[in-house]
Amino acid sequence: MSDVVFKNIYKIFGDKELKAMELLRKGKTKKKLLEDDKLVVGINNISLKIKNNEFFVIMGLSGSGKSTLIRHLNGLIKPTAGKVLVDKQDVTCLKGQELLNFRRHKVSMVFQKFGLLPHKNVLENVYYGLKIRGESKEECLKKANKWIEVVGLSGYEKSYPAELSGGMQQRVGLARALATETDILVMDEPFSALDPLIRAEMQNVTLDLKEKMKKTVIFVTHDLDEAIKLADRMAILKDGELIQVGTPSEIISNPADEYVKSFVGKDK
Ligand SMILES: Nc1ncnc2c1ncn2[C@@H]1O[C@H](COP(=O)(O)OP(=O)(O)OP(=O)(O)O)[C@@H](O)[C@H]1O
Ligand SMILES: [Mg+2]
Repeated sequence: MSDVVFKNIYKIFGDKELKAMELLRKGKTKKKLLEDDKLVVGINNISLKIKNNEFFVIMGLSGSGKSTLIRHLNGLIKPTAGKVLVDKQDVTCLKGQELLNFRRHKVSMVFQKFGLLPHKNVLENVYYGLKIRGESKEECLKKANKWIEVVGLSGYEKSYPAELSGGMQQRVGLARALATETDILVMDEPFSALDPLIRAEMQNVTLDLKEKMKKTVIFVTHDLDEAIKLADRMAILKDGELIQVGTPSEIISNPADEYVKSFVGKDK
């Protein structure tokens, strides 16, 4: 059970964060702030509610703030202003052990560059994320083996990442994230590095898992077809701002502006 609420999030990179916020609120653009003041706007006043068990996709051009937004979710980034609520708890206030526990038990992440440990085999890679939480060896092994099987990697437990194809490596990344059985799964362009056929296969694995696991999933992609295939709802970001939120069919049939139209039109 996990709702995620982003409430008036601003993220400015640079020393003069508060000055930048003031200028942003007065209507200065991201481009002008960079040119005149050397301030980088990551997120500009985003509010968004992601529902429990929803599969929520975030789209936008490179640099639009997708990764910055989702990194707020496990405290990897602190906002310049605003709140991130997970089940009504403000994540931005968590520190030390509390933050560590939150990361280990509430949110798991899958990245584009798989992030596997090269000197550990498949089983060890999945096992490791569980063991650092202090669970018993038996429990960790049981869960690791279960999720390796779910993602279709049975038989490869002893293989090392370098011995696996890209698609298989990302299955390990997925198994590792799923094995922690957190309520929230965040995936930042998880399939972008895969070739089209493997990518389609991974999308099907994800769709299949979507039915099996009851989880809130936040999934970042550049690919409209991928978004449409997977999303319950999706958000479009531009220059750190939220441009539109809706179901794929709402967005396709009623794009909010030319930017969204260019996205929606592009893949047709
Ligand atoms: N650590 C950082 N320091 C300074 N600026 C940053 C940092 N991280 C992100 N930015 C800036 O914030 C903006 C948003 O970047 P972000 O990485 O969130 O974009 P993105 O939508 O994930 O792009 P991509 O699709 O290329 O991954 C960009 O202008 C980027 O330059
Ligand atoms: Mg990114």
